[in-house]
Amino acid sequence: MIPVMRPWLGAEEAAAAAEAVSSGWIAQGPRVAEFEAAFASAIGTGHGVAVSSCTTALHLALLVAGIEPGDEVVVPSLSFIATANAARYVGAVPVFADVDETTLNLTPATIEPCLTPRTRAVILVDQAGMPADLEAVQALCQPRGIAIIEDAACAAGSTYRGRPVGAGADLAAYSFHPRKLLTTGEGGMLLTPSADVAVRLRRLREHGMDLSAAARHASQQPVIEHYTELGYNFRMTDIQAAIGLVQLRKLGQLIIRRRALAQRYQQLLAHIPGVQTITDPSYGTTNYQSFWVLLPPDFPVSRDELLERLADAGVSARRGIMAAHLEPAYQGFPRGPLPVTERLTAQTLILPLFHDLTEQEQDIIVSEIAVAGHRQPRAVARA
Ligand SMILES: Cc1ncc(COP(=O)(O)O)c(C=O)c1O
Repeated sequence: MIPVMRPWLGAEEAAAAAEAVSSGWIAQGPRVAEFEAAFASAIGTGHGVAVSSCTTALHLALLVAGIEPGDEVVVPSLSFIATANAARYVGAVPVFADVDETTLNLTPATIEPCLTPRTRAVILVDQAGMPADLEAVQALCQPRGIAIIEDAACAAGSTYRGRPVGAGADLAAYSFHPRKLLTTGEGGMLLTPSADVAVRLRRLREHGMDLSAAARHASQQPVIEHYTELGYNFRMTDIQAAIGLVQLRKLGQLIIRRRALAQRYQQLLAHIPGVQTITDPSYGTTNYQSFWVLLPPDFPVSRDELLERLADAGVSARRGIMAAHLEPAYQGFPRGPLPVTERLTAQTLILPLFHDLTEQEQDIIVSEIAVAGHRQPRAVARA
């Protein structure tokens, strides 16, 4: 079976994890600190705070943004459910906004109809690695005092106006789940330009403690810690961070390979009438974390039937991005009309794309789609 994603892990990651184990310190410690600094420097913003997942990163981001019970947080429905769930963890109400058809992201035009006097934040997702237009959303939100949290779960390595995605955000959250380019198994990172915010985030991820366990361990004298506010255990381990440091060094290579494979998909799929593929927006570049394809309404088979045909041919594709407002957990939550979201979630699928995907495998995938679309597959010159 050709998987939808396979992380690019090897001997170097295994050695780094083994070294962390041999060191005797496997909980959050020096490797987490090193990974935070390296990741923040790679993105080009002040401070990194590593956590257990992007979901916990979003939860903490909402807390430090001062979001309280009853506040409204505008989110795209077209996102993994963690985006909307995070608002509920702090007692806020997620309000679903529609997305732009070509980027799958929120825009000022889709956010504005959802704003009320209770709106306190927007979670701006860079969906599937596609950069959202942060500056346009800042121009809408900043004069109104609405916080923006960038959900860059999938977007490590994407760029926005010449800089890595997240560099211009007050708070940006990343995921290191194996479906993402850079993985630590599970894991997440928050980036912020504010040293004070970073200090509070570090406290919140570690039970609200005013001193980290690693700092206490390093001290020669007995140290009594204090718990200054309600905190959580959202820590990353040093084993994960050791793997993350190796993966971060590979990110540039991962992007180059992925973009080449994506370009080849674009060329191959261009011969199937009506099938739309993703491409870079005018203001940035995507890392193609997920390569999604939009089927035309008159495609000869339904999206779900195409998924079945692909599975029969040994290809593990996936439905497109989910729409949270259609899930039972979100019945009755506020939203306006979501026509683009509903069309995209029904008519898109995600094709396998990963570092070791071969051109032969790509050909198998595209020829199944071509046959379903009643077209002869066409060859593309080998890269
Ligand atoms: C947009 C978005 N936000 C948040 C998450 C949650 O990330 P994690 O699995 O690291 O909690 C995901 C995961 O796929 C995601 O796609």
